[in-house]
Amino acid sequence: MMNGEIPLSSFATALMTAGDLDEGTLCPEKLVSDLMNGHATDFVYNTLSLSDRRSHGVFFSGASWAKKILAGRDLTGWQRFVDPSVGVGDLLLEVCRSLPLNKTANDTIKDWADRLVAVDLRKSFLDIAWMRVQALAFHRHAAEKGQSNKIIFKELPDNFLVGDALEIDLQLTPNDCVVMNPPYQRIQAPENSFAGKGKRSAAALHLEHIIRTAPPGVGIFALIPDVLRSGSSYAKFRMELTNLINLISFEPFGAFGTQADIDVAILVATSKAPEEVFIEPDPEVCNELCVEEFFSVSVGPVVPHRTPTNGKLCGYLTAKNAAVGEEIKAASEFATYNCRIERGPFVIVRRTSSPSDKKRARSTLFSSREETLVENHLLILKPKDRKISTCRLLLNVLDHERTDAWLNHRIRCRHLTVGAIKSLPWIAD
Ligand SMILES: C[S@@+](CC[C@H](N)C(=O)[O-])C[C@H]1O[C@@H](n2cnc3c(N)ncnc32)[C@H](O)[C@@H]1O
Repeated sequence: MMNGEIPLSSFATALMTAGDLDEGTLCPEKLVSDLMNGHATDFVYNTLSLSDRRSHGVFFSGASWAKKILAGRDLTGWQRFVDPSVGVGDLLLEVCRSLPLNKTANDTIKDWADRLVAVDLRKSFLDIAWMRVQALAFHRHAAEKGQSNKIIFKELPDNFLVGDALEIDLQLTPNDCVVMNPPYQRIQAPENSFAGKGKRSAAALHLEHIIRTAPPGVGIFALIPDVLRSGSSYAKFRMELTNLINLISFEPFGAFGTQADIDVAILVATSKAPEEVFIEPDPEVCNELCVEEFFSVSVGPVVPHRTPTNGKLCGYLTAKNAAVGEEIKAASEFATYNCRIERGPFVIVRRTSSPSDKKRARSTLFSSREETLVENHLLILKPKDRKISTCRLLLNVLDHERTDAWLNHRIRCRHLTVGAIKSLPWIAD
């Protein structure tokens, strides 16, 4: 076993031994019931040592916790469902029990591949989770539509990512719903963490990462250690969180289970717009002009997975393809989103920005006069005089350390707002 990975073939062998997988003649009912009833969990628990599982927080929710987390929730309003530490997929599986079915099981699987996002350190877990999701699709098509098909498992979708959830930018967008039961072991907190210094619960850091990177309007369902709800050592953590989320409920639910002897709580919330604090005008910049005099400011309109794609083919700027500090003379990526198109030149600024970042307004100049689509993670600043030279002046303003100080004062959390950028003082050295 390399890097704690379990070869998928041994999981397949285990299913075969149980009589579920048989040279392509697959019986969905038997397969799905074994996949659903804890077979995958038993297999992982029997394959990995308890110490390995403890050091990486490998304790799965199982169907009963998954049901408790999502019980009675109307999931119809959410577009994508994101589990940033997916394990073998218990939470996403529960979500899939209520997602609509398409015409055929294969169509449903294609749709779910777009609507589910999963991350885990171990690819083998992602493989198993995706296998279970597909088995459920076949099962539901058989049970609800009387369609019986042989299962042919598809490749892992692009949204199933091997990686560290604390590092990955999940590119969350409004209407995403995060469902999570993160690892609980204690790990070193990064500087400026809401959870404090030293070794803290990994669950706190995982939740914090999601909340800091989520734009307003993201749903959050989290099964986390109860100490985060009730412990005095997490009082500051709770206070910081509630500045960034609308808390719907945060209830204790008792002991998680035998192997993980820990009390848990379920948090239900939605992320909210950053709080802006009023600041006294700086006497040095008082009466100065602000960015709004020279630029119109808006949010990029493209929300991937939500914006219809039946528009004309245009250049497409995203937080990924627009390098900070660069000038883009021509778009390198193209898309057909049907929404507002912007004509250059303009400056784009990343909406994600934190007081701990060196530069708060991380910008890119788009100097082409082509029509272009812009992703929702970016703010668009269009010069009212349409001049590239005015954009260059703006870059100096955005790069100025007084701008960082001003934004740190004005915005406490991780998203720049249109309002803050509009009223940014126009600093001319
Ligand atoms: C408590 S289990 C929960 C799994 C699943 N969400 C569930 O409810 O059953 C936590 C999972 O997080 C994964 N994990 C641990 N650290 C991680 C990290 N830094 N990034 C992504 N996944 C991680 C582990 O491999 C494990 O599968």
